[in-house]
Amino acid sequence: MVKLNENFGSLKKNYLFIEIAKRIKAYSEANPEEAKKLIRMGIGDVTLPLAPVVVEAMVKASREMCEKETFRGYEDSGAGYDFLRKAVSDYYKSFGADVPAEEIRISDGAKSDCGNIINIFGSGNTVLVTDPAYPVYVDSNIMNGNNVIFADSTEENGFAAMPDKSVKADLIYLCSPNNPTGSAYTKEQLKEWVDYALANDAVIIYDAAYEAFITEDNIPRSIYCVEGSKKCAIEICSLSKTAGFTGTRCGYTVVPFELVRKDSKGEEIRLADLWARRQGSCFNGVSYPVQRAAEAVFSPEGQKQCKENIAYYQENARIIAKAMDELKIKYTGGVNSPYIWLKCPNGMDSWAFFDMLLTKIQVVGTPGAGFGKNGDGWFRLTAFSTHELTTEAMERVKSLLA
Ligand code: MLT
Repeated sequence: MVKLNENFGSLKKNYLFIEIAKRIKAYSEANPEEAKKLIRMGIGDVTLPLAPVVVEAMVKASREMCEKETFRGYEDSGAGYDFLRKAVSDYYKSFGADVPAEEIRISDGAKSDCGNIINIFGSGNTVLVTDPAYPVYVDSNIMNGNNVIFADSTEENGFAAMPDKSVKADLIYLCSPNNPTGSAYTKEQLKEWVDYALANDAVIIYDAAYEAFITEDNIPRSIYCVEGSKKCAIEICSLSKTAGFTGTRCGYTVVPFELVRKDSKGEEIRLADLWARRQGSCFNGVSYPVQRAAEAVFSPEGQKQCKENIAYYQENARIIAKAMDELKIKYTGGVNSPYIWLKCPNGMDSWAFFDMLLTKIQVVGTPGAGFGKNGDGWFRLTAFSTHELTTEAMERVKSLLA
């Protein structure tokens, strides 16, 4: 008889955003008139179309795929085309991080790489995740039967969990700017994590998916801006939020060649080789038109156009923050992130607040409890809607709560 992966039994019934989508569907079916007024500020999905220079590159590459002379099939290395890996490497250089193209592998986004990277680590590791956190880190480790422990991110520490030297972790997940709280580690704080990882022979999985939203000078865009990090950190990034690729799918993962750990026989192994081996067997790369589109994101004109889109969302974050200020509701985020993380009013739990906003004013957000125990009593709103809908949603929230 086939044996099933019974670790799935330890997961919540649904992935957070699937659960939210189900609740919206049930509400919409029962209340079709009210459903017409829904404003979605839950999942961090973008609303602006791809930047013109990105579209142009994608269309041109798609046309190449239609001609015998320029058609492309499998890409040889599976790591991504050289033109894109070089563009990403140059992008790192622009903010002072030295990441050679050879250490970068192109993927279909941060979510899959965050889940798949576990394949290169053995069983029995102690995995440290900050709480609250993007659910993929915990879910993927539960599926693999790993022991997950938590570092608390709370109102008291500004939602920036720091290492506890009395705890020994083998694998550490960090996300900065943080999903869901919007907090971001300074270079000094990240250095503490790097020192902790080096002292414990641990590896950091660093999710930099929101780096393009950083506005403050003391917040590094990459863990590789921190000394020592190339010996202990893997960085995963995505173009979903940077360039509106949520539906286009492209990201990249950096495994530095200096990142080496011993196997049980004492032999030194480059983690980059394990990742290349894993991806070689289980992943066939990202489509050529998408990689050309991604290359265009990193061109000077692409950067200009993508930054304009980000500025649009940042204005939404200001609209939300202003409403929270008027309501005297505590919140974090919005400055280096597209998320506003707010304290539910009157001590409400976050799913009750979710239900109240959905049923009374048809505004959808994300309950903080979905990101971990420290998220309960908190709520996430995204800045990825339009100005008009963001303003309308905040008017409704103000009239409900004032
Ligand atoms: C989020 O809203 O946290 C992410 O965009 C959702 C996801 O990647 O699954």
